[in-house]
Amino acid sequence: MKSFGLFVGLLVAAGVAAAPGKDYEHKVKESVAPPRGWTKVKPAPADHFIDLRIGLPQPKFHELEQHLYEISDPFHERYGAHLSKEEVEALIAPHEESVSAVDEWLASYGFASHELSRSSAGDWVKLRIPVSLAEEMLKTEYHVWQHEESGDAVVRTTSYSLPEHLHVHIDVVQPTTTFARMRGMKATYHYADEEARVVNIAQPTIPIPSAYNGQVNSSCNGSLTPTCLRELYNIGDYTPQAADVNKIACTGYLEQYANFEDFNDFNAKYLPEAINSTFDVIYINNGSNDQSLDAAGVEADLDTQYAFGLSYPTPATFYTTGGSPPFIPDDITTSDSNEPYADWLSYILNDPNPPQTISTSYGDDEQTVPYSYATRVCRELAQLGARGVSIIFSSGDNGVGDGDSDPATQECYTNNGLNETKFVPAFPASCPYVTAVGATWYIPEETYFISGGGFSNYFSRPLYQDIAVPHYVKNLGNTYEGLYNASGRAYPDVAAQGQFFWIFSGGENFLIGGTSAAAPTVGGIVSLLNDARLAKGLPALGFLNPLIYAIGAIVPDAFNDIVGGSNRGCGTEGFTAEVGWDPVTGFGTPNFGKLHDIAVGNIGGLFDF
Ligand SMILES: *[C@@H]1O[C@H](CO)[C@@H](O)[C@H](O)[C@H]1NC(C)=O
Ligand SMILES: *[C@@H]1O[C@H](CO)[C@@H](O)[C@H](O)[C@H]1NC(C)=O
Ligand SMILES: *[C@@H]1O[C@H](CO)[C@@H](O)[C@H](O)[C@H]1NC(C)=O
Ligand SMILES: *[C@@H]1O[C@H](CO)[C@@H](O)[C@H](O)[C@H]1NC(C)=O
Ligand SMILES: *[C@@H]1O[C@H](CO)[C@@H](O)[C@H](O)[C@H]1NC(C)=O
Ligand SMILES: *[C@@H]1O[C@H](CO)[C@@H](O)[C@H](O)[C@H]1NC(C)=O
Repeated sequence: MKSFGLFVGLLVAAGVAAAPGKDYEHKVKESVAPPRGWTKVKPAPADHFIDLRIGLPQPKFHELEQHLYEISDPFHERYGAHLSKEEVEALIAPHEESVSAVDEWLASYGFASHELSRSSAGDWVKLRIPVSLAEEMLKTEYHVWQHEESGDAVVRTTSYSLPEHLHVHIDVVQPTTTFARMRGMKATYHYADEEARVVNIAQPTIPIPSAYNGQVNSSCNGSLTPTCLRELYNIGDYTPQAADVNKIACTGYLEQYANFEDFNDFNAKYLPEAINSTFDVIYINNGSNDQSLDAAGVEADLDTQYAFGLSYPTPATFYTTGGSPPFIPDDITTSDSNEPYADWLSYILNDPNPPQTISTSYGDDEQTVPYSYATRVCRELAQLGARGVSIIFSSGDNGVGDGDSDPATQECYTNNGLNETKFVPAFPASCPYVTAVGATWYIPEETYFISGGGFSNYFSRPLYQDIAVPHYVKNLGNTYEGLYNASGRAYPDVAAQGQFFWIFSGGENFLIGGTSAAAPTVGGIVSLLNDARLAKGLPALGFLNPLIYAIGAIVPDAFNDIVGGSNRGCGTEGFTAEVGWDPVTGFGTPNFGKLHDIAVGNIGGLFDF
């Protein structure tokens, strides 16, 4: 049943043919240039279903942000006073006027207010509708777009409209203009055992002053196990004490399945005390976790084996979110074109008791996500931080941008229709409310040249970076001027080893790398820090960055500074890793022992008021 409003009635009376919803004056809400590297293949089938998400403005978000910064600031008396789910929701709730304006519009298409699916804060409304209706409501045409290089395809549009009076009541409608592919950040090359090992037999250990007992087993150079990381990052024999309350999680997308047999083989070989341990799987939006060995996902196995291995026996969760990888265009009717990342966010924000540490190794170029939507996603990550969750993302595997050293590939061009040459920041790493992790390799540690790093073009520099980042930019002088945005949020924040990780996947034992390996390593270590705090009755660390930048300024040896080397890309050598923070390895890699002492309140005045 469609409900016709009074206005429609008047139009009909005046002899104008009216159809549901069409009585409003539409105006373009968002329009993007046809994305580089994608081809418009054909009109989307009218009966293809999409889960349309309508984002209503969050007028009090700045208040939420202020809370977030206060409770994450180690010098603030409210440090650790995380907000409840209800408190966060009250701060992101839309204005009543927006709710009724949107409800009224949807009612004109026959969607009764009480039938609509909403986020519990009411800031999102979700509708499962055929393309034909979405096209009518948004005065647009959806097409099947194919990514030339990978063959992946999605149903999207480059422009959509909304009734003019709704522009102030709706921030964003998706899926429309987002062309992100959210790929896993594992480096695609496997290193064979023989190639990787650079063991110096004459020298059984490598002296590393910051390591546990001042040394690391030589076999770890180019061949990492959880034991190696415990030595290198000075975790030593720390044993978790708060497994009753602490939790850690990794996210999985795009049919990446974490295999239990691989997990057990890994533990049997590298972490015997964890043998027969397991993790929970939470299935979101019809996600699955196929246990046949040939369905095992390298990304999922890497993430779970290291994040959960380092934090064992902390209870662990793997989130598997449905939504196939962008599909083959011919197969369109059997696939959906949702954005699985949005499904995970809506799930986790609805969880009254989310894990204190969550690591994600997926992302894409910032410019593939429109500003309006990137802002909303980033704000959801802020909500998690305000709830006391440490959100960790890999910084990407393309240095300052895809396109290796061949300008002819033109990957380092902007997507805005102007084709300017620019470094290409990664998202969500560029969101100021997450902790982005870059990569090192070898022992002693060096910059790994793939380490994603740079400056956001969307998010301005947060206050917590106001000392470290301008210092770096000043020293950079006019190098790369015009290629990066010096006023943007800079990343990564920290780094960890990102190559030569031994994993089991699909029953095989091999080495893998990428910032995908670095993120779960930092995730595991952060979870141990949370453990130490929870065991003392202190709140979890929550959003980490204000603390990380304070430590970087005051207790710099709590991170192992990486100096030298650069993150090449876009036909350049990229940024150079300097003393202190840099957009290659952040402040460096963690020294768990020192961070632990800070976290439980033994160092400096960081936590003393
Ligand atoms: C170094 O690692 C190798 C390989 O894991 C192991 O066989 C050896 O016992 C280790 N040496 C020390 C001193 O821990
Ligand atoms: C570790 O391996 C790298 C790369 O082969 C090498 O340059 C470095 O010297 C090795 N470290 C030690 C202490 O031998
Ligand atoms: C692990 O599980 C296997 C198979 O159920 C069992 O035989 C073995 O005793 C278990 N090991 C430990 C240490 O519990
Ligand atoms: C959920 O997944 C199952 C098995 O993969 C499939 O048969 C079913 O159609 C899916 N349901 C939805 C709503 O996508
Ligand atoms: C930008 O590049 C695209 C793809 O190569 C091309 O179609 C377009 O005309 C270019 N735009 C400008 C302004 O040069
Ligand atoms: C640079 O970043 C700022 C803040 O994030 C933004 O307002 C501005 O538009 C960006 N400039 C370019 C050229 O991207």
